[in-house]
Amino acid sequence: MNNKNLILAIETSCDDTSIALVDNTGFVLAQFSASQDDKHRVFGGIVPEIASRNHTIAVLPLVENVFRESGKNWANISGIAVTSRPGLLGSLLVGVMTAKMLALVNKIPFVGVNHLEGHLLAPFLRDAKTSPPEGFGFPFLGLVVSGGHTTIYEALEFGKYKAIGATLDDAAGEAFDKFAIKVGLGFPGGAKVDTAAKSGHVDAFNFPRALTQKGNLNFSFSGLKTFAQDFLNKMPEKERDLRLNDLCASFQEAIVDQLINKLKFAQEKTKLKQVIISGGVSANSRLRFKAKEWADAAGLLLVLPPIRYCTDNAAMIGYVGMRRLALGLASPQSLGPSARSFEGDFC
Ligand code: KG4
Ligand code: ZN
Repeated sequence: MNNKNLILAIETSCDDTSIALVDNTGFVLAQFSASQDDKHRVFGGIVPEIASRNHTIAVLPLVENVFRESGKNWANISGIAVTSRPGLLGSLLVGVMTAKMLALVNKIPFVGVNHLEGHLLAPFLRDAKTSPPEGFGFPFLGLVVSGGHTTIYEALEFGKYKAIGATLDDAAGEAFDKFAIKVGLGFPGGAKVDTAAKSGHVDAFNFPRALTQKGNLNFSFSGLKTFAQDFLNKMPEKERDLRLNDLCASFQEAIVDQLINKLKFAQEKTKLKQVIISGGVSANSRLRFKAKEWADAAGLLLVLPPIRYCTDNAAMIGYVGMRRLALGLASPQSLGPSARSFEGDFC
């Protein structure tokens, strides 16, 4: 079969290089990602120059990988989707330049995609193992929660998204990562805190919850982060190690509580009956459990994409790009990367 109906998707906005092949129905034929965690761990955070250099090394071999895995080739590709905003400028630049070059060489269109729109629409992705629940579609309420973002959107229709609440300071993932370093779990630490928390008690320590007033849809995590740092500074190292699981469970609960409470307020305000959570932190097992508990009790349809489509991935960019290209919305060769979202990406 030589149908020319596939989108090649490129994601390089932060420190993961990811390439995927998505068809014109949102089915993912292949996805390969290269993590740079080992390169940044020693610095305790992402070093932008190291991130972009490693994207240049990884990006084209990953394109070869998706072709090999799927048995497809350039004759099957009708367009290219690439994350062009927001993110680290140098990282985005690698993806955007690669997309423009591949589009020129293969005489096909390309489209720049907003990374956050990718996270928001990840629940629509399908593959051999997953598909969205029957009847899921617009409009829905979406929480995108990652290392760089914590925002609630009203997703009204394709291309029309209203940001109705966002963090006033740190993102939830950032708070997880800082805490993990402080308790000796290393970087990035969200998943490690999650694992340690499984054998801890959520109410062993009392960490603060911010902006709890009913109806307030904004988030704040910097107070929690500072409180935890001070608290740990005062705790003898030996006790800290002995109580690690309790510390992780209690800290995690403070973040999850805030995320769920804001979602509840947003749902009460918008009355939307479908809710999605996406972004790296949505991989958190406690968040997934609490969200499901709430959705079941409130009679809501909750969609939590599989982890491979929650953390940074190219498939979600391919889905958005596929829909934009179908509407004739290709980008010009003059498009460059942007550290910020475009005015008009969200209303
Ligand atoms: O979406 P993502 O892969 O990249 C960004 O766009 O930021 O999110 C990465 C973030 C990191 O802060 C990481 O610690 C966090 O997601 N994360 C988690 C878990 N898995 C990843 N946080 C809490 N629990 C997890 N299981
Ligand atoms: Zn992301």
